[in-house]
Amino acid sequence: MDMATSNSPGRICRRSFLLLAATAGLTACASGGRVPPGSERVAEAERVRRLAGARSTSVTLVAATAEVDLGGVQVHTWAYGGQLPGREIRVRRGDVLKVELTNQLPEPTSIHWHGIALRNDMDGVPGLTQSDIGAGTTFTYEFAVPDAGTYFFHPHSGVQLDRGLYAPLIVEDPDDGADYDTELVIVLDDWLDGVDRTPDAVLDELKKNGMGGMPGMDHGSMPGMSMPKSELLGGDAGDVTYPHVLANGRTFRDPQAVEAKEGQRVRLRLINAAADTAFRVGVPGARLRVTHTDGFPSRPQEADVVLLGMGERLDAVVTVPAGSVPVLALAEGRDQYAQVVLRNPDVPAKPAEDAQVKQLVGLPVLMATSLRAADRVALPDKQPDVVHDLVLDGPGDKYTWTINGKVYDPNDGLPVEQGQHVRLKFDNKSRMFHPMHLHGHTFQVRADGNSGPRKDTVLVLPGRSVEVDFAADNPGQWLAHCHNVYHGEAGMMSVVSYVE
Ligand code: C2O
Ligand code: CU
Repeated sequence: MDMATSNSPGRICRRSFLLLAATAGLTACASGGRVPPGSERVAEAERVRRLAGARSTSVTLVAATAEVDLGGVQVHTWAYGGQLPGREIRVRRGDVLKVELTNQLPEPTSIHWHGIALRNDMDGVPGLTQSDIGAGTTFTYEFAVPDAGTYFFHPHSGVQLDRGLYAPLIVEDPDDGADYDTELVIVLDDWLDGVDRTPDAVLDELKKNGMGGMPGMDHGSMPGMSMPKSELLGGDAGDVTYPHVLANGRTFRDPQAVEAKEGQRVRLRLINAAADTAFRVGVPGARLRVTHTDGFPSRPQEADVVLLGMGERLDAVVTVPAGSVPVLALAEGRDQYAQVVLRNPDVPAKPAEDAQVKQLVGLPVLMATSLRAADRVALPDKQPDVVHDLVLDGPGDKYTWTINGKVYDPNDGLPVEQGQHVRLKFDNKSRMFHPMHLHGHTFQVRADGNSGPRKDTVLVLPGRSVEVDFAADNPGQWLAHCHNVYHGEAGMMSVVSYVE
């Protein structure tokens, strides 16, 4: 097929095809092809986002090797600014964020601003939206931040996310604070880097052995524990065993403790930055009032325990009970947990007791998919202009995870046009759950009618389908992928490709 004359969606024109290798697809097609990251359309969408008099926030970041204390466990890893999680970035809705990243890692890197509807050329996907940020070089990201909420950032380069390279990005709303007194950001993670093997070694092993070949060291887990399974997740709960799970960079043995007084309403901003682990989160003896998922407001709903897949965020207000209580994060399908202690200043900090962990395991779990979007952010229920199926499958005997039978190809895509109402249908044929994430947009999960939550990452359980709708209002080339970093790297990524 002659690409030069092809207008068929998902194809790219010859000119950008020829230049792709050199410029990572940053050039514009003459016509009838992809809308590339460097195009006028992307610039125009950004101009619309730039508010008159917008505040600008500048941050410098260094990605480098670091020695980090996880709470009694010293590890050599890769981190932002030598700390874990990296220092939070906090801006206000409508601000322009400027981040100068210096790469002192031994490898190329990138930063993806997970969940933000930003300009496509700042989305941080090497080979699709920008070139690699080479070792020893600097790159400046600059973009308007249109929506308030709880976000985070991480590299989109190989399996670097499973090192210490992640940090919260909090976007405040001028209306924040009306229904809570204080807030607490908790970033969850599964950890192995610098303990027994690197994430790159894990991916190599998975590819070599297929599934089930991971020895692991099982620190802090039951002896003889096999691959994690979960009834709640409908099958396999993970592909990798981890010696530790962390909350705000600490193991359960030596947790972070924050002061909180009885009766205080604390807005928890929960972020799952893990590579392969979902978490159940709850506070023994208190209920959660869930208010947001993936940054966007949902109709408030009470819950005992909430589940967060990888890449998901959830905000919930908890009224601090008497004494000192832990916010517990139980690694789903694994006998491991992490915690942050809410410490009453009048009593000594008290880490979780076994009984509290057990109590939490027995409580009903709220899945974010059963939330409903708050009216002010709900998308109108419209017939889609275009529907794309994404059939999820894997891992076969070579550890390949596929979408529509194919592994990731940045030159292939699911075509959409600016202005369309788009529906994606995720259909999971595998035995493991997949947190499916779309870059640059916040879709609406379709649950009876169109009334599910606004999200950018949605759990698709084995044997199940999930439909999501979004307004194609942010031109460019956007990944849609599994946020299990090993699945993504083993192929489970595709491109939602704006064409003209
Ligand atoms: Cu946080 Cu492409 O992902
Ligand atoms: Cu997956």
